[in-house]
Amino acid sequence: MTRRKLVAGNWKMHGSLAQLAELDAIAAAARANPAVDVAICPPFTLIGAAAARGDLAIGAQDCHQNLKGAHTGCVSAEMLKESGARLVIVGHSERRTDQRETNEEVCAKARAVIAVGLIAIVCVGETEAERDAGQAVAVVEAQLQGSIPAGARAAELVVAYEPVWAIGTGRTPTAADVAAMHAAIRAKLGGLLGAEADGVRILYGGSVKPSNAAELMAVANVDGALVGGASLTAADFVPIIEAAA
Ligand code: G3H
Repeated sequence: MTRRKLVAGNWKMHGSLAQLAELDAIAAAARANPAVDVAICPPFTLIGAAAARGDLAIGAQDCHQNLKGAHTGCVSAEMLKESGARLVIVGHSERRTDQRETNEEVCAKARAVIAVGLIAIVCVGETEAERDAGQAVAVVEAQLQGSIPAGARAAELVVAYEPVWAIGTGRTPTAADVAAMHAAIRAKLGGLLGAEADGVRILYGGSVKPSNAAELMAVANVDGALVGGASLTAADFVPIIEAAA
């Protein structure tokens, strides 16, 4: 099955109104590479301005699992949609660690995203200790089991495999390790979602940069990338978009 590549940038807690100027060149690269879907996920405060700037797909980095209610400081998927977001990252390892998010919460958030008609990017990935112990695949399978909403359709779900030890470190797994993990993820999704799993895009994330993007994109079952640091400037992000084309 042919899956369109998706290159999504996660700005994390970086960015400013001034930095949205980077989006113009990123949007131009997206238009120049129509075979690739491109998105940027800035902090909540910048989503409205980013979406208003042009036709580039804008996403968010988290949402609450409820659509409204007494949850001070939280933002719902419905609010993100109204602000112009088209995708929402859920279950990023930084939230699983910093906010102690569980698989059950991640699943509920993904359900909320899908319920309002947005695309959920569900993140999974093992720690270095788990990989060293030979548990990487089992850990990721358990995260998928608990985090993927039953009945999710390929058009509304993306999985991002991000080994925790590769995030922001400059280290990446070998192409063979990425291939093995993405194949395991595809197989697990098959068990969870049946035939729909063939259409679900599985992104690789963790120290993706212009110099390694082409090699990573060529790996079987790698349907794009979730990019952190290298998504902050068009100079770094545009070559990654081009590598996916
Ligand atoms: O969401 C993005 C990932 O955490 C990867 O971050 O590209 O800075 O390693 P990084």
